[in-house]
Amino acid sequence: MATVSTVAELADHIGQTVTLQGWLYNSRSSGKLLFLVLRDGTGLCQCVLEKTAATAEIFTAVRHLGQESSLEVAGEVRAEQRSVGGYELAVSDVRIVQNAVGYPITPKAHGIEFLMKNRHLWFRSQQQWAIMRVRHTLIEGIRAYFNDRGFILVDTPIFAPAAGEEAQTLFEVNYYGEPVYLAQTGQLYVEAACMAHRKVYCFGPTFRAEKSKTRRHLTEFWMVEPEIAYADLDDVIELAEDFIYELVQKVLRERQPELELLGRDISKLEQVQKPFERITYSEAAELLHSDRARKLLEDDLERAKARVTELKQEIEEKEAERSSPGVKQWKVDKLAREIMEAREELADQEDAVRNIPTHMNLAANFRWGSDLGGSDETIIARLHERPVFVTHYPGACKAFYMKRNEHDQRVVNNLDLLAPEGYGEIIGGSQREDELDALLGRIKADGLNEADYEWYLDLRRYGTVPHGGFGLGVERTVAWICGLKHIRETIPYARMMGRVYP
Ligand code: 4AD
Ligand code: MG
Repeated sequence: MATVSTVAELADHIGQTVTLQGWLYNSRSSGKLLFLVLRDGTGLCQCVLEKTAATAEIFTAVRHLGQESSLEVAGEVRAEQRSVGGYELAVSDVRIVQNAVGYPITPKAHGIEFLMKNRHLWFRSQQQWAIMRVRHTLIEGIRAYFNDRGFILVDTPIFAPAAGEEAQTLFEVNYYGEPVYLAQTGQLYVEAACMAHRKVYCFGPTFRAEKSKTRRHLTEFWMVEPEIAYADLDDVIELAEDFIYELVQKVLRERQPELELLGRDISKLEQVQKPFERITYSEAAELLHSDRARKLLEDDLERAKARVTELKQEIEEKEAERSSPGVKQWKVDKLAREIMEAREELADQEDAVRNIPTHMNLAANFRWGSDLGGSDETIIARLHERPVFVTHYPGACKAFYMKRNEHDQRVVNNLDLLAPEGYGEIIGGSQREDELDALLGRIKADGLNEADYEWYLDLRRYGTVPHGGFGLGVERTVAWICGLKHIRETIPYARMMGRVYP
């Protein structure tokens, strides 16, 4: 067979004969021609096999190959505007590696439960392929951002002796007969490291025993946490702003085709310009009580109700068409897929009709002092064009390590960054409490065991300085950048309450 190429490199081989190695994504025949769409990991390419170009046996064998059969195809590369990817292979030779029979994920409709169970295969589907590539680029961007700016990578432990965030979400493990916990954060450890290196970061998986199944929560997720010495809240905000801006720019530069494949409205990402918006928690609380917030949700509710009516009608019509006599099989499959999609959207819209009144109530009755809930964050984010920093939360609803504000003792110098389009919090961070007595007070007030934090308290005994940092959740960021409704598709193998397979 000829030189091996990949679909991504076909542009360099026009007029030449190359071999592609891949899997059969799709095929159809029209008498003397077979149109094979080959998937090789870098893209899709239509390969056209003429009956005369192969032996009768090969032609028949290829015609009967199942979806996802593995094969090598050699042929001449030609530019073809109408073909997926813009090139085509005029096939001269085919080598079947394996004929796959009964691949479970067919072009027919599948529900999310089925797809999640078949995650190991679902990876191969176009949308999932695109998401993983965006994730890859985002992670590459995260590492490059800090490495290029003199931050030192400090890996932090996963077995943690004590809570780093709220104690309610700890996973306990048996460590030689002693209870320890899976790390919720590496923060406390990078705080120590920034006193040695000034600018540091950790990046790894973190664990939270979330007791609810929401579209924003995983039990295992990836977080990057930079930490800087001699820094106050403004320094941390400035870093977070530039970091997000640069990440979005990188994805826009390098993953435009993937974003398009996902149907992402790219103009929304282009609007992510500096400076981001900044409001305080108290301003956020006022916003939740405002007419603008109420109007936003009233409009949502109207829209959701109208859509429910529309979808019900659409489903009814499609079901009638599907069961009418003489409908071709491909049409039946297509209708089944559309009905499934419409049903999924209907379920979402019905949820919205049920939930919006609750969200309206929560917002209208929001009390200063409580943490912002998911729906509150969504409202605040949607009332802004750009990502918005919410700062200065009441200390009582935030973690023990946050620096109390010098002017208003009730609030802390913290930040949450809410992504636009209602995606909610993607970054949480703060200036850290650097005074020994104040920190001790918070540890006691939160009912934590002082002895567990002796080493952490040492940082306030020996050369304490103002310092701070933040944590960015990779999966929530991927969900926002890709425009996905649910976080479960943003990580290769999602771990959620009730889900640890495959
Ligand atoms: O706001 P969080 O809890 O902050 C911390 O863990 C700090 N120690 C970070 C720091 O200052 N170094 O979490 C930070 C981010 C959130 O904004 C969110 O993006 C993500 O981590 N996150 C989750 N992502 C998915 N599933 C969950 N259950 C998450 N919990 C937090
Ligand atoms: Mg948070």
